[in-house]
Amino acid sequence: MHTVNVPLGERSYDIEIGTSLDQAGPQIKGLGLGQKIAIVVNPTVKELYGKRVVDSLKVQGFMVMSIIIPDGEQYKNLDWANAIYTALLTNGFDRRSLIVALGGGVIGDLAGFAAATYMRGIPFVQVPTTLLAMVDSSVGGKTGVNHPMGKNMIGAFHQPRKVLMDLEVLRTLPKAEFLSGMAEVIKYGVIWDSAFFDYLDSNRERILGLDADALTHIVKRSCEIKAEVVGRDEREGGLRAILNFGHTVGHAIEKAENYTMRHGEAVAIGMVYASRLAHGAGLCDATVPERVERLIESYGLPTGLRALSRKPTVQELMDTMQIDKKAEGGKVKFVLPKSIGEVVITKEWDDGVLKTLLGAA
Ligand code: NAD
Ligand code: GLY
Repeated sequence: MHTVNVPLGERSYDIEIGTSLDQAGPQIKGLGLGQKIAIVVNPTVKELYGKRVVDSLKVQGFMVMSIIIPDGEQYKNLDWANAIYTALLTNGFDRRSLIVALGGGVIGDLAGFAAATYMRGIPFVQVPTTLLAMVDSSVGGKTGVNHPMGKNMIGAFHQPRKVLMDLEVLRTLPKAEFLSGMAEVIKYGVIWDSAFFDYLDSNRERILGLDADALTHIVKRSCEIKAEVVGRDEREGGLRAILNFGHTVGHAIEKAENYTMRHGEAVAIGMVYASRLAHGAGLCDATVPERVERLIESYGLPTGLRALSRKPTVQELMDTMQIDKKAEGGKVKFVLPKSIGEVVITKEWDDGVLKTLLGAA
């Protein structure tokens, strides 16, 4: 097992990579919290892994309740957060009680948001079961739900007390979900670590074959990078925004597809456009967008707007980017690569170049 610490003073916590779901009980017992635990889970993951986590907690003497949320992004909303509050209140949960989020990013964001807001905040533990949740959403404390007017528009920063990752669960994950997570893994190579980018290029077969050592390496390195960035800038005052590489165009694509496209797929396309935009702005040479696109494509991820179910207009995409919550002072901030392994956050990009790139797709 490998431990990665997220260094946030009194809110620091450990990510345990390569633990077993059967160790959830002892691991959580070690936190020294109250006796009541609510596991938030969807039916898909409950069927596969719910009993192992519940049994492991019960053996340690915890009182365990499961709160079942239907499977899908459309249930990451205030109505289902309210359903969680009602279940907690009905069962006498107090501020020492604990929420365990068992699932992908949807469950992690929703359960984390409920934990952030129930009785002004109760502890929670993330047990991510998708690659995307392991390398991104379960780490760093961004929690939230969607509003009819926008994704992730209601939220709170609330760090988990621990993150438990059993990599064996990735063996039941549908291939397309695994690849969606790989987009976020590739992101870390571009924004921070060129050697990691090269590793992803050289070890494709092992990674796609779910080789245990390769999986451990990609999850561990991704978590190390995210922990370092979040440790330096927890609330996205500056540096943390680099984690949004590919997300500006990516969010506009998700909206154009009415949130039916996987998050990682949209981010993959967004990373290609951001890299081309960087080249167009004279920030990097042509090999950067070429290498980014080639690596993304080699993992079977989409690289252009042709992957969408319909071609959105350039204006539609530009309009969405403009109202994206990260827009400041009238101009959208882009995260653009200078080289593989280094990015800048900038408002100095050319509208015309972006429109041409999006229009040419
Ligand atoms: P998801 O949670 O919808 O999971 C994808 C699918 O995989 C679901 O159908 C789920 O039931 C299934 N599944 C989960 N684990 C499984 C397993 N081990 N075996 C078989 N099936 C399994 O999607 P996701 O990609 O994990 O998360 C996407 C969400 O994460 C989005 O809502 C996005 O906004 C959010 N997100 C949040 C952050 C953050 O920092 N908080 C970062 C990135 C993404
Ligand atoms: N996924 C972006 C962040 O955590 O900041």
